[in-house]
Amino acid sequence: MIDLHCHMLPGIDDGATDLETSLAMARIAAADGIEVTACTPHIYPGLYENATENIAAAVAAFRQSVAEADIPLQLTFGADIQIVPELLIGLRRGTHPTLHGSRYFLFEPPHHTVPVRFAETLFDTIAAGYTPIITHPERLTWLDDAHYGWFLDAADDGAWIQLTAGALTGEFGRRAQYWSERMLDDGVVHILATDSHDPHHRPPILSAGRDAAAQWVGAEEAERLVEDRPRAVLDDQPPSSVLPPPAQRGEAPAQGRSKDRRGWLSRLFSGS
Ligand SMILES: [Fe+2]
Repeated sequence: MIDLHCHMLPGIDDGATDLETSLAMARIAAADGIEVTACTPHIYPGLYENATENIAAAVAAFRQSVAEADIPLQLTFGADIQIVPELLIGLRRGTHPTLHGSRYFLFEPPHHTVPVRFAETLFDTIAAGYTPIITHPERLTWLDDAHYGWFLDAADDGAWIQLTAGALTGEFGRRAQYWSERMLDDGVVHILATDSHDPHHRPPILSAGRDAAAQWVGAEEAERLVEDRPRAVLDDQPPSSVLPPPAQRGEAPAQGRSKDRRGWLSRLFSGS
C-alpha cells in the first residue's frame, strides 16, 4: 500500500513531535503493509510556515534515520496545503510541493469554516495543469447536505477526493463515518490515506480502512484506493489515464449497498 498523506516528520507541524515518535510511526506503517509514505506536513500561513526546501531537507534526514533503524519503508514528500490565495503561486514557484514532484497535490479545506472561493481555487489549479486531491472532506465540520454537492462537482471537474482511513473505521465518530460511506457509496472517492499524526491516537494504519472500504465498493476497488491510484500519483500519470472511481466510469458504485442507508441524523440518534 501507499500512504499519500501523513504527518510523520519530526517537529515540523502538529504531527510527530520528535525523531523517536517518527520512527515509531514508520515501524507501524511498515508493519501494516505500507511500502511508501509521503510525508506531507501542513503548509498554513501564520501557523506552519513550511515550504519545499525545509520539507525536502527533513525528509532526507528522516530517510537516513529510517534506513539506520532498518525499517522497510520508502519515503517521499508533498505537503498538506491549506486553501489560501497564494496556493497556485506557491505551486508554480515550487515553494509549495506537489506529491513526489507530480502534478497531484493535497488541497486542504479549512476544518471549521466554509471556505470562500472553494470552487474557483480548485478550478484555477486544474486549469493550470495540476490535479488537486481534496483531503478528508468527510471530517469537515461544515459538510452538510447543502455543501455535499461541492465535492461531487469538484470530482466532476477533475479534482480527486481523499478519505481518511480512520474515518471509515469509526475513529473520527459516526458523522465522519457516515460521510465517508456516503462518498464511497456515491462512487466519488479516489484514494484513502492515513493522515496520521502520532503512533497512538492517529497511527499510520491503512489496512483497516481498506478493509472497511471493501464492504462498500468491493475488494478490487478498495485496492485501487490504497495502491493503484496512489501509485499513479507517484508515477505522475495523467488523471485521464487512471481508472476513475465507479461513478465516473458509469458503474453502479457500491457492492455493499445492503448496509443501512438511512440519513446520518437518524443513524446518529437511533444508536445503531
Ligand atoms: Fe493532514
